[in-house]
Amino acid sequence: MKVEELKKNIYYVGAPHPERRLFDELIPLPDGTSYNAYLIKGSEKIALLDTVDPAKEKVLVDNLRSLKVEHIDYVISHHGEQDHSGAIPTILDLYPMAKVVTNAKCKDLLKDHLLVPEDKFIIIKDRETLSLGDKTLEFVLTPWVHWPETMCTYLREDKILFPCDFFGSHIALSDLFVKDREHVYKAAKRYYAEIMMPFQVSIRKNLEKVKDLKIDIIAPSHGPVHDHPGMIVDAYKDWVSEKVKNEVVVPYVSMHGSTGKMIDYFVDSLEKKGLKVKAFNLANMDLGELAMALVDAATVVIGSPTVLAGPHPLAVYAAYLTNALRPKTKYVSIIGSYGWGGKLVDNLKGLIPNLKVELLDPVVTKGFPKDDDFKALDNLANAIKEKHQEVI
Ligand code: FEO
Repeated sequence: MKVEELKKNIYYVGAPHPERRLFDELIPLPDGTSYNAYLIKGSEKIALLDTVDPAKEKVLVDNLRSLKVEHIDYVISHHGEQDHSGAIPTILDLYPMAKVVTNAKCKDLLKDHLLVPEDKFIIIKDRETLSLGDKTLEFVLTPWVHWPETMCTYLREDKILFPCDFFGSHIALSDLFVKDREHVYKAAKRYYAEIMMPFQVSIRKNLEKVKDLKIDIIAPSHGPVHDHPGMIVDAYKDWVSEKVKNEVVVPYVSMHGSTGKMIDYFVDSLEKKGLKVKAFNLANMDLGELAMALVDAATVVIGSPTVLAGPHPLAVYAAYLTNALRPKTKYVSIIGSYGWGGKLVDNLKGLIPNLKVELLDPVVTKGFPKDDDFKALDNLANAIKEKHQEVI
């Protein structure tokens, strides 16, 4: 996507990255991503809001050239992560009069990560404003939407919020504004699950902080621009609320079929009781799909065989990830099998200290499951159903 005008004298100058398939060498990007940067031409000053990932800095520079931008007064840096800040040194080389406008924490990060010199900064505080002449930027510090220094800019006259990662989605832009709402909702939920969910308490506070701004447009730094912002704001309110759904997420792995047989039986037992189940075979799964399922589920049940006296490494990965993502899950249990012994349950329990959950009785069998094991799995399914009735 080339330069496009959002509103008079406000331009999209960022870069889609459709061929990118992994973020942080971890997160799958089925729709690629984009690094959105915006240029605001005021009657007196010109501001560039964020830059792009260094891999796409030529696109940003070409976009600025196509607009015949001969000087930039301010580079507003909302977030120190390099997918938005990485081209700041290049911009400062091309526009040596430009100052980087950011908060004190972000300044430290930009100095450490990008070696931006101290004399290049203008430091702003929460709710401070910066005039571009006929346009006024108001800065709103919104820590932990994604890092501790993250902040938003509100463009008062045009009622546009530029929230950087907040409200974003990993989609390589072809249209500037949201067209397919369902697609964008799903991509934004995936993005929330992978990036934002660990910070849901901070996000709740930050939603409060921006709720009194009159916002016509939300222009994030990944994915399409929201010209009907109610959809994404309501989605965030739902995701960060304390409400859970009548859903059970079952990440599992099986080596010789014993754990797999137990999981099949257990999933069937839950579904017969009217619970929605999302099972993920860890040997062949999309990390983002698992993260998305964790956003709403009341219960997580991890399935694993015993390997070298402990859980299978893929189950360790799932438990570690779930612990790191800190979903609002209320209940956890473990299903597994072993050949001769081991500490499957204790090891998995030790991997989820961040989760504020009640552990329901695990079901672990020696070898292939037998009648008593199937009864125990039915009992676990019943216990989950009863627990859900208390919280849903
Ligand atoms: Fe899109 Fe936290 O960077």
